[in-house]
Amino acid sequence: MLHPVIMAGGSGTRFWPASRQMSPKQLLSLVPGGTMIAQTVGRLGDLAPPENCLVVTNARLVEPVREQLPELPPEAVVGEPAKRDTAPCIGLAALLVTKVANDPEAIMAVMPADHVIDPPEAFQDAIRQAVELIEANPSLIVTYGIKPTYPAEIFGYIHRDVPMALSTDESLAPAYHVKGFREKPDAETAAEYLESGEYYWNSGIFVWRASTILDALREHQPQMLDHLEKIADAWGTSEQQEVFEREFTAIEGISIDYAVMEHAEHIVVIEAPFEWDDLGGWQSLSRRLGVDEEGNTIVGRHLGLGTSGSIVRSTDEHLVVTLGLEDCIVVHTPDATLVANKHDEESIRKIVKQLESLG
Ligand code: GDD
Ligand code: MG
Repeated sequence: MLHPVIMAGGSGTRFWPASRQMSPKQLLSLVPGGTMIAQTVGRLGDLAPPENCLVVTNARLVEPVREQLPELPPEAVVGEPAKRDTAPCIGLAALLVTKVANDPEAIMAVMPADHVIDPPEAFQDAIRQAVELIEANPSLIVTYGIKPTYPAEIFGYIHRDVPMALSTDESLAPAYHVKGFREKPDAETAAEYLESGEYYWNSGIFVWRASTILDALREHQPQMLDHLEKIADAWGTSEQQEVFEREFTAIEGISIDYAVMEHAEHIVVIEAPFEWDDLGGWQSLSRRLGVDEEGNTIVGRHLGLGTSGSIVRSTDEHLVVTLGLEDCIVVHTPDATLVANKHDEESIRKIVKQLESLG
């Protein structure tokens, strides 16, 4: 049985002031079609029944996430008591789908909650393709590769090997064995990868048997798995919450990419047959939404004179006026407004850190 697992515990600080602790990127409506998380679940179509889905987020986001996903049973949304990155989130999900849902053969399709992927049908076909590969060869880890367009330091890289035999079927996306996985290389290494033409960006979507990832965590993160097993054992008992809080908090945070993918064998990569965008920040959103004749991306009420190359985001109720503004980002929210030079977009993260330290 296929179990979609949606990782929804990130903070997405680069969309400040729209993204906040209680409204991180996955809960924002950045592109038409609803919040990122609602679009993520909607995109699954009929890949799996709703009760097979698991959404893992932060404890304080459980209610807003449930509100976004009325089609899922409430227990499908699990709230972590602390942020420990993606490896514990995935390990816990693997235990919950095998032990608690009692499906030892469970196949998981793990995905981020905050990406743009289009069209949904191509995404669904690509997941089905992975499931078929795994049914033929149960120990496989299936990834989806995106052709890189610049030497990004913010993605994982997948080193492609020879094509898989099955990929001679022309209706299927090309699939390759993988030589290795490297998470977030430095700029120089990323440039070499790009130059070689042998690498893909890791889309952050993985398909594997739950037992495969649990074996890998047992090998590479045995302490983490010990903590997670205690949580799974207490799941559904009166001690669930207490054990969850104690054991999960004791885990050292690490992403699945560093914890497992960099060491894993039997990885394959399917060349993603869909459009993919991780929407890294305001400028990347502007590229996605498109620009008008002056090069502006405008969301909400705005009047401008001599405004060009800028991104302005407000609401339909609040008018923003810009005069003689070039290459700027202006984001209005009820209690905070950002006015930034486009070239300083990276500094938004520093400001969010400062704000966090102020409490
Ligand atoms: N439940 C939970 N708990 N989810 C989390 C946590 C956590 O502690 N931390 C992050 N997430 C969620 C995020 O909400 C997002 O949907 C997903 O997990 C990936 O986390 P990011 O923090 O956004 O990872 P990244 O973008 O730095 O890197 C990953 O994605 C890239 C593609 O966008 C890696 O897999 C890279 O290799 C990949 O290229
Ligand atoms: Mg990300």
